[in-house]
Amino acid sequence: MESSEAGVHLFAWRGCMFRISDRVQPPKAGSLFFCEHLAVRPGERVLEIGSGVGLAAVVLAKAGASVVATDVVPEAVDAIRTNALLNGVSVDARLGDCYAPVAGGRFDLICTNPPQMPTPPNRARRDAGAAADNGGVDGWEILDRVIAGAPGHLVPGGRLAFTIFAFLGKKTAFAKLEAAGLQPSIVASETQPFPRIGYERLEHIRSVDPEGTVPATDTPSTVERFVIQGTLPS
Ligand SMILES: C[S@@+](CC[C@H](N)C(=O)[O-])C[C@H]1O[C@@H](n2cnc3c(N)ncnc32)[C@H](O)[C@@H]1O
Repeated sequence: MESSEAGVHLFAWRGCMFRISDRVQPPKAGSLFFCEHLAVRPGERVLEIGSGVGLAAVVLAKAGASVVATDVVPEAVDAIRTNALLNGVSVDARLGDCYAPVAGGRFDLICTNPPQMPTPPNRARRDAGAAADNGGVDGWEILDRVIAGAPGHLVPGGRLAFTIFAFLGKKTAFAKLEAAGLQPSIVASETQPFPRIGYERLEHIRSVDPEGTVPATDTPSTVERFVIQGTLPS
């Protein structure tokens, strides 16, 4: 039984209520931006990879989609289940890495707001906080695997939607999608405060920023964020 001394953190958004668990990252600006630009039709099959507390999964299930939501952190999978129940929707929450929990499955929409913070080799860790933020040396570690696996997990005409920070490279994202046989497009862009953890890694981010988006000497106060889509031809 939980100690009442610890308190309960709740997050309310768009008529939904989310219980925030220890060890699971609470929704941030990028989470809301991501959710605001996900479109589904009732009955569509959706896979969210790295669902955290299940914000997008619950919102998409409320919109009538049939949602599988995954995470590598067991407490996140528990949180997704709790938050689906709390909001009266059904979400199939599964534990595991990338596409492993949905082998053989095909979806109309695959979506992810993935860990994507470029991570110097000496900062790599294996805890839940790192799982939420760290995207490998260039930030693309998880996304590269998501993109590579998408054609094998989408129905014809299906969409892959994901967020990136500008310093991962918009043109780079397009090239990776095209190489995987997906037609790229930008769904939305938004200027957000530069992430706190990004300041701690600024020199490293500058060293990998493929399109030179971070000022060479000034300290940035904002970063552009994109929702990118790749569509599998019908
Ligand atoms: C940036 S957080 C986003 C959480 C949530 N989707 C949101 O938008 O607030 C990334 C999530 O991906 C999960 N994750 C990290 N690596 C993963 C992997 N290889 N496969 C599935 N999920 C992963 C993390 O545990 C974390 O919950």
